[in-house]
Amino acid sequence: MTSAVVLATSAFAAETLDPNALKRLVHQDCGSCHGLSLKGGLGPDLRTETLEHYEADVLTGVILDGIPDTAMPPWRPLISQEEAEWIARYLLEPEAQ
Ligand code: HEC
Repeated sequence: MTSAVVLATSAFAAETLDPNALKRLVHQDCGSCHGLSLKGGLGPDLRTETLEHYEADVLTGVILDGIPDTAMPPWRPLISQEEAEWIARYLLEPEAQ
């Protein structure tokens, strides 16, 4: 009984926000331009010390809308507002990485 409840709860959580999937997205999809360890490539360095001047909500906006006229694409078609907020916090908090 208890394990069924736990399973049902984690399945629900996976549908809403899945930290492991989001971490994979950051390192693989963002990493395809920003470098697998986010130290920069085609796109700039995304490590916390480089991004610390960003407010979390501004960073969320950059992720959702991209940077016009550059190779930085908008992610709004692919991820939710909540997922973008999660990624922004993840990038800003080294202890989360
Ligand atoms: C197709 C390549 C590409 C992908 C994929 C990509 N980016 Fe970018 N990103 C860029 C480029 C190029 C820039 C620099 C744009 C400019 O010239 O200002 C950039 C800029 C940024 C900036 C601004 C950095 C700064 O120092 O101001 C952030 C933040 C950012 N990207 C986050 C992300 C995140 C998070 C993802 C994944 C969800 C992602 N990017 C995926 C190419 C990419």
